[in-house]
Amino acid sequence: MRAASPESSSIAAPTPRPGRRLAVAPMMDWTDRHCRYFLRLISRHTWLYTEMVTSGAVLHGDRRKRRALDPLGPPGALQLGGSEPDEQAEAARIGAGLGYDESNLNGGCPSSRVQSGRCGACLRLGPGRVGEGVAAMTEAVTVPVTVKTRIGVDEHDSYGALCRFVEAVADAGCRTLIVHARKAWLQGLSPKENREVPPLRYDWAYRLKHERPGLQVVVNGGIADAREATAHLAHADGAMLGRAAFAMLRSIESGALGSAILSPMVTVQVPPSAVAPTRRGRSSIRRTT
Ligand SMILES: Cc1cc2nc3c(=O)[nH]c(=O)nc-3n(C[C@H](O)[C@H](O)[C@H](O)COP(=O)(O)O)c2cc1C
Repeated sequence: MRAASPESSSIAAPTPRPGRRLAVAPMMDWTDRHCRYFLRLISRHTWLYTEMVTSGAVLHGDRRKRRALDPLGPPGALQLGGSEPDEQAEAARIGAGLGYDESNLNGGCPSSRVQSGRCGACLRLGPGRVGEGVAAMTEAVTVPVTVKTRIGVDEHDSYGALCRFVEAVADAGCRTLIVHARKAWLQGLSPKENREVPPLRYDWAYRLKHERPGLQVVVNGGIADAREATAHLAHADGAMLGRAAFAMLRSIESGALGSAILSPMVTVQVPPSAVAPTRRGRSSIRRTT
């Protein structure tokens, strides 16, 4: 399934495959292929997501850019943005051909640019259309088609609305939901504020898992370190770290760790500015290899 690439040949595949117990979030301009390469050197086991790529860009981008989507080693997911089922399906097919282990649909990003492309969090307002996209993608590929979503959008923020969305994508073939456990406001908050202001409701993600045990639920949002990630695993199938994981890379890049990077278990201090202000100031991430 995985396409061979000269760069990936130096990285051994993990055995057995780890599943999504620990994942690094898709982050535009941050989790590019260089970042993912670095992360893959640190851990063979963590599930990595690309930054969001619109399905149009996958379809019409030049071949060099397509090759740049290669995650340099499994396991990894291609995150797609889009709302046209035919395009989504074709983009998923191309991603699977490039060797990605998962096609993930972005249903959580509230930025105005993403909204203008009719993807991201605004997809929450049309579960039927998202279901059509997921169904088309599921038809097109054998790798799992997953959806990353917020618990709510604007005034559509009841647990019932979340369940209706989940039902639409599950009926269409999605078996894994990544739940960013806060709602998003489509107007009035910047993307950064939308990652910090709406309160976290992990209990909704846990409840979803409890009520739909057949679905894989990965919790995301405000997870500061490996200890917190592990605590989520008592209630959900996986934990996804975004900013905290990147803060670790920044520390490494700045040389703050010194020779600690060579020790078998690395503990990294995450700068307080890298996590939501409501989190405590100091946290740590352990090397998972
Ligand atoms: C710089 C940046 C870029 C992001 N880009 C994306 C993206 O492309 N797709 C997406 O689904 N989420 C994106 N997110 C949201 C993250 O995937 C994640 O849901 C959010 O940061 C909450 O997790 P955290 O509290 O662990 O950082 C981005 C977040 C940041 C900080």
